[in-house]
Amino acid sequence: MSNDRNLQVLLKARPSGAPKESDFACVESPMPRIGAGQFLMRNLYLSLDAGFRQWMNEGAGDGYLQAMALNEPVMGLVLGTVIESRHPDYSIGELIMGRTRWESYSVADGTDYMAKMAAVDPEIPLSYYLGILGPTGLTAYFGMRDVGQPRAGETVLVSTAAGAVGSVAAQIAKIHGCRAVGLTSTDEKCRWLVEELGLDAAINYRQPGGLEAGLARHCPDGVDVYFDNVGGRTLDTVLAHLRIGARVVMCGALAAYNEAEPIPGPYNMFKIVTQRATLKGFMVTDYVAEYPAAIQQLTTWLKEGRLMNAEEMVEGVENTGAAFCRMFAGGNRGKLVVKVATAEG
Ligand SMILES: NC(=O)c1ccc[n+]([C@@H]2O[C@H](COP(=O)([O-])OP(=O)(O)OC[C@H]3O[C@@H](n4cnc5c(N)ncnc54)[C@H](OP(=O)(O)O)[C@@H]3O)[C@@H](O)[C@H]2O)c1
Repeated sequence: MSNDRNLQVLLKARPSGAPKESDFACVESPMPRIGAGQFLMRNLYLSLDAGFRQWMNEGAGDGYLQAMALNEPVMGLVLGTVIESRHPDYSIGELIMGRTRWESYSVADGTDYMAKMAAVDPEIPLSYYLGILGPTGLTAYFGMRDVGQPRAGETVLVSTAAGAVGSVAAQIAKIHGCRAVGLTSTDEKCRWLVEELGLDAAINYRQPGGLEAGLARHCPDGVDVYFDNVGGRTLDTVLAHLRIGARVVMCGALAAYNEAEPIPGPYNMFKIVTQRATLKGFMVTDYVAEYPAAIQQLTTWLKEGRLMNAEEMVEGVENTGAAFCRMFAGGNRGKLVVKVATAEG
């Protein structure tokens, strides 16, 4: 076993509003020891996922996850290799993607979410398996496939289209022959969405006239599929622009994660009735049995050049908190991944 120490990022304060760097603290801890039924992972990459923000709040525990504890390492998804094991099902050298913590080494016992990454493609960078070929891409894939059900020629609107999940969802809409329109917060990210990612149009929802003006211009006949990552007022506005038979993919509610009080509304719910529309939520973890086939499909699209990987790599566990904050300031393009170590060690 390595004599290294374990770098960990603790939740020092519960964020009030958008997370800030002082909500996190990086500390050096002794190397963890494993007990019977446990294994030790050397983390290679940490995944930054906006959805984890909600479990930083006091009393945020729900049927899915517990609220994170103060002064404990922040919960997050990691990709790592097993370097010690006293667990019969996990062997040294195995590559694992699982939910542990923001740290260089993690002890696990296999009871939390753990997926063995047996079939990684040697031609694909490992970090992709946390992003476009990991929970991020899979969320976009299953949400679009099962809830969105895009058909060629339809107009698909995606919020946080320049983010991790959104950038994949919008590209999948294009692969299905749809007109893909993205929402984002700057003109520069709008240009990137159209010129680099190949979307048909992008709307800066902060532009004069806001979202209404953008929808009138870029979705004049309405929206067939809305892939919703934000909820709140954006969702409410889009409801008023749904076409008959529209599907709304309820993927996330970013607008609410930093709010202490529930956001009022939506007020346009009657549009669901008149437009015979469907709103449906989903969790990517419902599809674990289908992950291998979906990863295969996403890999094929990547290799065919039909899907572009948008990823930003940050080096070092100590920079994880700052990178997470940047995501809530809209500073990321695509998936944010923290590189902890190389596979060779
Ligand atoms: N259902 C599932 O199983 C599942 C699984 C994974 C993720 N998700 C959801 O997917 C969504 C996207 O997550 P991600 O990790 O890919 O994050 P992301 O989109 O890469 O990053 C967050 C982006 O959200 C926008 N944003 C930040 N703060 C906001 C606010 N207060 N209101 C509205 N927009 C804000 C910014 O984009 P702009 O600058 O473009 O506004 C920012 O770049 C989240 O809602 C997450 O909960 C769902």
